[in-house]
Amino acid sequence: MRLRCFAIVCLCAASLSAQSGTLRDAGAKYDILVGAAAGSHLLADPEYSTILGSEFSQLQAENEMKFGEIHPRPDTDPNPYDFAGGDALIRFAQQHNMKVRGHTLVWHNQVPKWLTEGNYSAAQLSAILHGHISTLLKRYALKVYAWDVVNEAFVAGGTMRHTIWYDQPGIGAGAGTKYIEQAFRWAHEADPDAKLFYNDFDAEELNKKSDAIYRMAKDFKKRGVPLNGIGFQTHITLNFSSPHKLKSHAKNMRRFAQLGLEIHMTEIDIRLPDASPASFAAQAKLYGEITKLCVQQHSCKLLQTWGFTDKHSWIPGFYPGQGWALLWDEKYQKKPAYEAVLEKLGR
Ligand code: XIL
Repeated sequence: MRLRCFAIVCLCAASLSAQSGTLRDAGAKYDILVGAAAGSHLLADPEYSTILGSEFSQLQAENEMKFGEIHPRPDTDPNPYDFAGGDALIRFAQQHNMKVRGHTLVWHNQVPKWLTEGNYSAAQLSAILHGHISTLLKRYALKVYAWDVVNEAFVAGGTMRHTIWYDQPGIGAGAGTKYIEQAFRWAHEADPDAKLFYNDFDAEELNKKSDAIYRMAKDFKKRGVPLNGIGFQTHITLNFSSPHKLKSHAKNMRRFAQLGLEIHMTEIDIRLPDASPASFAAQAKLYGEITKLCVQQHSCKLLQTWGFTDKHSWIPGFYPGQGWALLWDEKYQKKPAYEAVLEKLGR
């Protein structure tokens, strides 16, 4: 009898704290970090910084650690790097007991002109990338616990994307996924404690792109290439609500987990065509399903949204006519999606 009362009290306390608690506290019960992409220029807004610092256990620079922003001048310049934005975000994270995830070392976008127009040879490009990776991993060792080492290296059909690193003229490491392997090896050399991730979009489901990533991951694990996890960006629409897609996502995560890899949901947003109550309700349901998939997959250690307020989201700029993709609205009010995530983390 006493035991039963005790159990009931515990259950009530648990559900109370989930309702009134924060995302970060709710996630902690499952050993899941709850993160948001952030920008240092927004930290001065008290509404922004209060939510970021209290609701999330991790942040990631939305832009400020990308090559073009953090390494805006050539290595021949006396001051090739600009760490101001990244450092400010790290300071904020430390003050609020948050982890920092690094994004991203090798990507085809947001690469500076000095690099794309520099006519570098493969050997020079290789040296530049090696220096870039070593500099960042060493500077941020102990401060950035995980990195998206390579971002979006495959296209939808499962073949390699043509990028400056792959073929213009390439970093000189050879064919196929060799340049990716090289980047992971350089990152591991510079900071052996950092968790190293491959990150991509539209690879959540079983499809040609996720098959290609899986083949690479299996090969890397077999040969001891230092790959620790896979980031699923999860930029999705309400189409993803179909049970078939959700099941496919669960299966896909499972096969990567079985390779011994950690799973991170790195850039979640669910864009909508309008801000109607019906759309918000459908969005909340899907956010809940995505959260549940992470909770149910024990290797899933991060749920991170790409921003957190509809006031600052990349979606309207990149997908004209769409938006309202995040957990807080433009006025920093919690949306039904927020409650859905909290509820699924509370169970
Ligand atoms: C986006 C940022 O949100 C925008 O502010 C920027 O203008 C372009 O990049 N996949 C990624 C992210 O890995 O780095 C992208 O971020 C969104 C898609």
